[in-house]
Amino acid sequence: PVFILLGPPGAGKGTQARLLQERFGLVQLSTGDLLRKAVADGTEAGLKARPIMEAGGLVTDEIVLAILRERLAAPDCAKGVVLDGFPRTEAQAEALDRMLDASGQSIDAAISLEVDDVKMVLRISGRMTCGSCGEGYHETFKPPRVAETCDACGATDMTRRADDNAKTVMSRLDAYHAQTAPLLDYYGARGVLHRIDAMREINVVADAIAETMVGET
Ligand code: AP5
Ligand code: ZN
Repeated sequence: PVFILLGPPGAGKGTQARLLQERFGLVQLSTGDLLRKAVADGTEAGLKARPIMEAGGLVTDEIVLAILRERLAAPDCAKGVVLDGFPRTEAQAEALDRMLDASGQSIDAAISLEVDDVKMVLRISGRMTCGSCGEGYHETFKPPRVAETCDACGATDMTRRADDNAKTVMSRLDAYHAQTAPLLDYYGARGVLHRIDAMREINVVADAIAETMVGET
């Protein structure tokens, strides 16, 4: 199965994708994570992506598609994937359709996480991630039990993202409204769109998503 998580920055795509991975054994494919890894590794794609990501713009379709295509071909993806932060443009959505067609697959559901633009800025500004195992936290909404220590793995390596500052967040939000929001119509017209109120607590949102998935699989 193939599930897509759509939503503006801070909507909870990464948080929910990780939960879906745990609950349903799907593989989380985050183009944001893949791009951050390319930046950290200093690959050619990473060098090109870095200034764009720091400014809060969208990385070119060419770079994103190359990275995604490679990851999607890995054997573990055969058990099903949840796409987190991809597609983000109509060209990406069309390319995804072609990739899936070629392997006899199609999209089971596109889940739109709907949030209030102002409140999502609060979510992003408190975000931190365990540098060791990748578990996500939030200073207010999901603090670790012991300050700066990961509940899941015990590491004391909380990291904060370079693009999580107020200025970049506004650019990311603009990019979402201009280039990604039109995909809601794209998937709506195909009858696979589910809109979820993502202003609720993490577990409530997770249950609402799980309900749509049970209906689809
Ligand atoms: P990406 O990494 O995808 O970032 P984003 O879309 O800005 O989304 P975020 O990761 O900020 O938010 P999220 O929705 O995952 O929220 P999270 O679960 O962390 O992309 C980064 C950049 O890479 C882009 O700007 C672009 O440059 C580039 N890029 C990536 N993909 C691309 C593509 N396909 N094409 C072109 N460029 C691309 O939650 C946020 C915080 O809130 C966390 O602290 C969490 O604990 C907390 N939280 C989550 N849910 C709740 C809740 N229900 N209640 C309270 N707190 C919550
Ligand atoms: Zn950890």
